[in-house]
Amino acid sequence: MYPEAVSAPLWDAVRRHTDAAAYPYHVPGHKQGRGLPEEFARRMAQFDLTELPGLDNLLAPSGPLAEAESLAARLCGSKACHFTTGGSTSGIIAALLALCPSDKRPLLPRNAHVSCVHACVLADLVPIFYDIQEDATRKLFLGADIADFSLRLTSDVGVALLVSPNYHGVISDAGAMSSLCREAGIPFIVDEAHGTHLLLSPPMPPSAVSLGADVVVQSVHKTGVALTGSSWVNVNTEAYVRSVKAALRLLQTTSPSYLQLISLDLARAFFETQGKERAEVALRAAQAIRKAVPVYEPPEVYGLDPLRVVVDSLPLGMNGHQLGQHLLAQGVAVEMTDLTTAVLVLSPGDGLCAIAPVTAAVAALTHRARRTNSDISPAGRFLLGDQFALSPRSAYLASGEDLPLHLANGRIAAEPVTLYPPGSPLIWPGQRIGEDFIEYINMSLAHGASATGLRQGTVRVVSEATK
Ligand SMILES: Cc1ncc(COP(=O)(O)O)c(C=O)c1O
Repeated sequence: MYPEAVSAPLWDAVRRHTDAAAYPYHVPGHKQGRGLPEEFARRMAQFDLTELPGLDNLLAPSGPLAEAESLAARLCGSKACHFTTGGSTSGIIAALLALCPSDKRPLLPRNAHVSCVHACVLADLVPIFYDIQEDATRKLFLGADIADFSLRLTSDVGVALLVSPNYHGVISDAGAMSSLCREAGIPFIVDEAHGTHLLLSPPMPPSAVSLGADVVVQSVHKTGVALTGSSWVNVNTEAYVRSVKAALRLLQTTSPSYLQLISLDLARAFFETQGKERAEVALRAAQAIRKAVPVYEPPEVYGLDPLRVVVDSLPLGMNGHQLGQHLLAQGVAVEMTDLTTAVLVLSPGDGLCAIAPVTAAVAALTHRARRTNSDISPAGRFLLGDQFALSPRSAYLASGEDLPLHLANGRIAAEPVTLYPPGSPLIWPGQRIGEDFIEYINMSLAHGASATGLRQGTVRVVSEATK
């Protein structure tokens, strides 16, 4: 297509990945086109438009886009559904900006997505954290601790947020938390980035849109069938419709991708016309996979996403990252791995053809000689601490320096550090770095995790002179 000498490293990498033809147990949920209309997939280059006459305007929709959003609101059962091409990341930032008064604090879970850091930096907010139940041996987040949430819902709080389902498919009791917030007069946001398919209830568990949350943000690209980065923000409370849209306007490009916007419209149509049927098929695929592979069973959770299959690597004698690599070598691409699991994302875009690749690959691994897994040892704190030495904004904007991780003990982080995925910060800007954090990060990296917020073994800290 181009002369050999022309370098296009990203294009090359994506082609290599795609040509390897591994089955995609990962997002986007349209599964490499399986959930997209044929004409849309075929004519994508022609449809790559933006705000031309007659095609409406995302910043102030009044024509076909407004109509598409209102059909989506009808499907979701919300008062308004705002489309965004900036993923749930932009939706969560917008909701926090719109709903948290500047003299109050957001009440966030310890597994909040990094988008919450961005909102706090932009709006100069200092969060209060509530507890998430944890699997301490596996270092995994489970559901929200509702007793702790209730205790912390004080008059200092301007808005509360829940992540449900989480990356490992754990669902929290959004209905009970909505009621607590309503009694306290505090708006409640649910980060349902991983739960667009819950709109197909039954057979799926219910979405927080139907459980009384004020704002529910969904990554339609993850477990719906939209293109990557395409999300929508459901607003359930009339009083917030305008302010959430105004905040979204601050964050959106003025040249939104119509491929993404069309894909949201088509994802809504797909859910409306064949969603439940396709959800049943995906459910059967997930059930069949669960029967054939070792599955991680979290202890005592409120609910579990039936389309998230969390493969337990320990019975296979390896850590989760190693499992991910072995599976990839056998044509199975997983969504994420951690110390002891590999996470498969199924969506209504999957068919029964999703069953065979992973079950065959795991069966092949089961027959190999087992290695010991004695090196998978818990180390260090993994739950985020409460205290801020500086506000996230002050720390982020202060002059900083990059320090090798082992020299950073006691210093104030200037940027968030997350294992990615799942993208929940282990430390926020403004928090003091401790030995346990360093130990946990080092152990995770040694086992094959990847981190954002670290550059060649260094972490950004606030300079001593500027504290
Ligand atoms: C819990 C959670 N919230 C929000 C997001 C952001 O979603 P998006 O990728 O649509 O921006 C993610 C992304 O993985 C996530 O895991």
